[in-house]
Amino acid sequence: MPPGALRGRAPLLPSSGRALDVACGRGAVAVWLATRGLATDAVDVSAVGVAAGAELAREWGVDVGWSVHDLDTGLPPGCSGPYDVVVCQRFRDPALYPALVAALAPGGLLVITVLSEVGDSGGAFRAAPGELATAFAALEVLAHTERDGEASLVGRRPAR
Ligand SMILES: C[S@@+](CC[C@H](N)C(=O)[O-])C[C@H]1O[C@@H](n2cnc3c(N)ncnc32)[C@H](O)[C@@H]1O
Repeated sequence: MPPGALRGRAPLLPSSGRALDVACGRGAVAVWLATRGLATDAVDVSAVGVAAGAELAREWGVDVGWSVHDLDTGLPPGCSGPYDVVVCQRFRDPALYPALVAALAPGGLLVITVLSEVGDSGGAFRAAPGELATAFAALEVLAHTERDGEASLVGRRPAR
């Protein structure tokens, strides 16, 4: 079963190709993508989180390309794509949104979940209503929800 916010999204995701998990934390999503059959890269600023992910990958017998990297400077040079799936769960950096789209292969899927002001109080870390739909208007939107303090979007980059 896919972890956390990917639940319910699994039928949309391919089981081959390349995947990137942005702000991967302790790597549960990255490892799940790799077990699904995707060649997966994962990036997070936390060396502790990445080390936990690497240990989880060993337990599951899969390879993941881990990067310890500060996303404030953009995606790492080795993680610019093209990816068939880009996942970004519970990490919000609007400055990074264009790079997430650019990293997608034609036909590739973005799955993003951020904290939202919708159904919760405002705050510096929460997306304003409509933020994801506006930021990813260039994608074909397959799913979009905003409720209970969380916004989520699944979008496909149009095939050439
Ligand atoms: C709430 S956790 C989500 C982790 C994972 N995506 C998940 O859903 O379990 C947010 C993650 O963003 C990472 N993060 C925060 N700022 C970052 C930055 N500037 N560059 C890279 N990672 C960052 C944190 O280290 C943390 O692992």
